[in-house]
Amino acid sequence: MSTKVRKAVLPVAGLGTRVLPGAKTTPKNMLNVFDRPILSYIVEEARAAGVEHFVFVVGRGQGAIEDYFDASPEIEGALEAKGKADILAEVRRDLPQPGQMSFVRQMAPLGLGHAVWCARDIIGDEPFAVILPDMLMAADTPTLAQAVAAYDQVGGNIIVVEPAPEGEAHKYGIVDLESRKGRINRMRGMVEKPAPGTEPSNLFISGRYILQPDIFPLLEKQGKGAGGEIQLTDAMAELMKVQPFHALEYEGVTYDCGDKIGLLRANVAFALRHPTFGGAAREAITGLL
Ligand code: G1P
Repeated sequence: MSTKVRKAVLPVAGLGTRVLPGAKTTPKNMLNVFDRPILSYIVEEARAAGVEHFVFVVGRGQGAIEDYFDASPEIEGALEAKGKADILAEVRRDLPQPGQMSFVRQMAPLGLGHAVWCARDIIGDEPFAVILPDMLMAADTPTLAQAVAAYDQVGGNIIVVEPAPEGEAHKYGIVDLESRKGRINRMRGMVEKPAPGTEPSNLFISGRYILQPDIFPLLEKQGKGAGGEIQLTDAMAELMKVQPFHALEYEGVTYDCGDKIGLLRANVAFALRHPTFGGAAREAITGLL
């Protein structure tokens, strides 16, 4: 069994209710953040952490994702004919090597736990990453690479966490730590969407995980939890009875692109960080204020 994290599961099947109507005909994770889709940044982050194979768990009407990560002879041919080498390079930057991406259908919206379970046959018997692509992260060391470094240090299962804004912890999965020293801490519990006032801490599960394949049999028999959905958090809490889990407080900033204002913030932040357009973006944004 490989112990290296080579594969990542990207659950993208959600309807994107909070970013409608933009997400009506465009899968929500294909919405643009400045000049490329959210998934372009996510794949870049995962590659920087050593991920070699991507398993997208998609829903109906999300063929645009598969097409984005495929060659586009018309566009590429036209750019080549016009000698637009730099745009061509940008168009090709996200293309995988043949065979590096798999697409599985989540045939019913039964929850995040169910979505991850849909990837079981392609993951097989090795540790893997889960990335929630709504949560776009800006970090000097890409977030998943921080998680892999923590994994190399302590093994087991890793959950990336961060402090929830005041009064918002009940909207997330929340972790309970044995003690809090430094950024990597052993966990003693976790709960999905705790009732306000009952949160064991303010640290929420922010969308990057490294899990052992032993999660799959637990997901298979996991009943419905918060919101009537099969929750990944509930299966992880089961796995924690027999395997260690560590929470990593990562260094960086999270933008929730599943929300209109979060998506706007991501657009501004990534435009400002852009190596070519950063300066012009700053001028444009300042001019608007
Ligand atoms: C999911 C997870 C939750 C996590 C959150 C981060 O919840 O179940 O543990 O904190 O993503 O965005 P959802 O946003 O799907 O309700």
